[in-house]
Amino acid sequence: MNEPKDELIQLIRAHDEWRLKQCINLIPSENISSEAVRQVFLSDLGHRYSLRREECFDFPIQAENFYRGTRYIDQIVEMCRELACKVFNAKFAFPEPLSGHHAAIIVLASLCRPGDLILAIDERKGGYPGYMPQSLPQYFNLRMAPIPFNHEEGCIEYEELEELIASEKPRLVILGASTILFPYDIRRIKRSCDEVGALIVYDASHVLGLIAGGAFQPDPLGEGVDVLFGSTHKTFFGPQGGIIVTNNDLLAEILSKNLKLKMVDNPHFNRIAALAIALCEHLKYGREYAKQVIMNAKALGRALDEEGVPMMYKRKDFTSSHQLLVFIDEVERLTGRKYHALTKMLEQAYIIVDNGGRLGTQEITRLGMKVHHMKELASLIRRVIIDQEDPVKVRKDVLAFRAKFQEVKYC
Ligand SMILES: Cc1ncc(COP(=O)(O)O)c(C=O)c1O
Repeated sequence: MNEPKDELIQLIRAHDEWRLKQCINLIPSENISSEAVRQVFLSDLGHRYSLRREECFDFPIQAENFYRGTRYIDQIVEMCRELACKVFNAKFAFPEPLSGHHAAIIVLASLCRPGDLILAIDERKGGYPGYMPQSLPQYFNLRMAPIPFNHEEGCIEYEELEELIASEKPRLVILGASTILFPYDIRRIKRSCDEVGALIVYDASHVLGLIAGGAFQPDPLGEGVDVLFGSTHKTFFGPQGGIIVTNNDLLAEILSKNLKLKMVDNPHFNRIAALAIALCEHLKYGREYAKQVIMNAKALGRALDEEGVPMMYKRKDFTSSHQLLVFIDEVERLTGRKYHALTKMLEQAYIIVDNGGRLGTQEITRLGMKVHHMKELASLIRRVIIDQEDPVKVRKDVLAFRAKFQEVKYC
């Protein structure tokens, strides 16, 4: 009989072989990191602790560090902070959050008081479900109102938002979303916020790597965002984790006070070290990568449209980010099948997407796909969802296509 450990190793190997080598992954919240990032993630740093006195505002500790043996850890964390400040044009960087959601928890807990009003994009219009009333607002006893958003156009209704900010005087306006195809007019929102003393924060979980590469909303802090935060593993090709950056001294101090021994104890130094390596890779290759991701997304949008797959936002050249949005109602009408049934068929063909209609080009770009490859990819998708060809037959062509892209680039 197999030991559970053997069975687990087999499952893990099977997963890695399938998802890393055989599948075409179009889930917009995922990515693959470089060999260097993966190696560092496995280092001894993942076994260790460090607790520095200057980080513990409300918990005085006697010595410089409660733990011995931290001489390298402390330098690595410092370098990670400095690299993040450089990449995001920021004065302060906090690499401690364990995920994008955790970064959001730290931001809300630090900047809001019970009863405060926050504005965020409704999940039915692509917003992050974590900001819906029954999620983080309920937990922190905050009121939430939706940012007026025109889903058909993919943009904020600015005049309505200005009126809402003026009349309701929110504490926070949260920009950013899970479906995010176009940038925001931050300067315009900032003007309204300044009039009522509201803060703007930007959950850039999805577009962090595109911001880092200067290809999408290149300088949110410079445009007026008070705090920028998000996941480090979606378009940003680091390890799974989160980060918070700001230029505001006072907010930085408040965030700092909320981190150590309140929202985080051990922030996983292997992850922070791996993030620092990914930041170095972004400094060197991030511009080229981010530009290619967006060019590929636009090209895939056009190619899918030409293949007869209904896509949203044709009038706006489909997207300005890594994401595309399938026009689900139209696909269902055309095929007579539910979209989730079609995504199951795509999975059988080894093309991996979510059930929300989002497609992302960040991972295929990392694997070296370029604009001229998008036509072939679009035709593979069309064969499964529009022609409803046997997915197992299409899989053969997916595997042959994918075999040409086995190496992680931009590192
Ligand atoms: C806008 C946004 N914020 C936060 C998160 C949560 O990120 P994480 O999975 O890193 O916790 C997501 C998840 O995809 C997201 O789309």
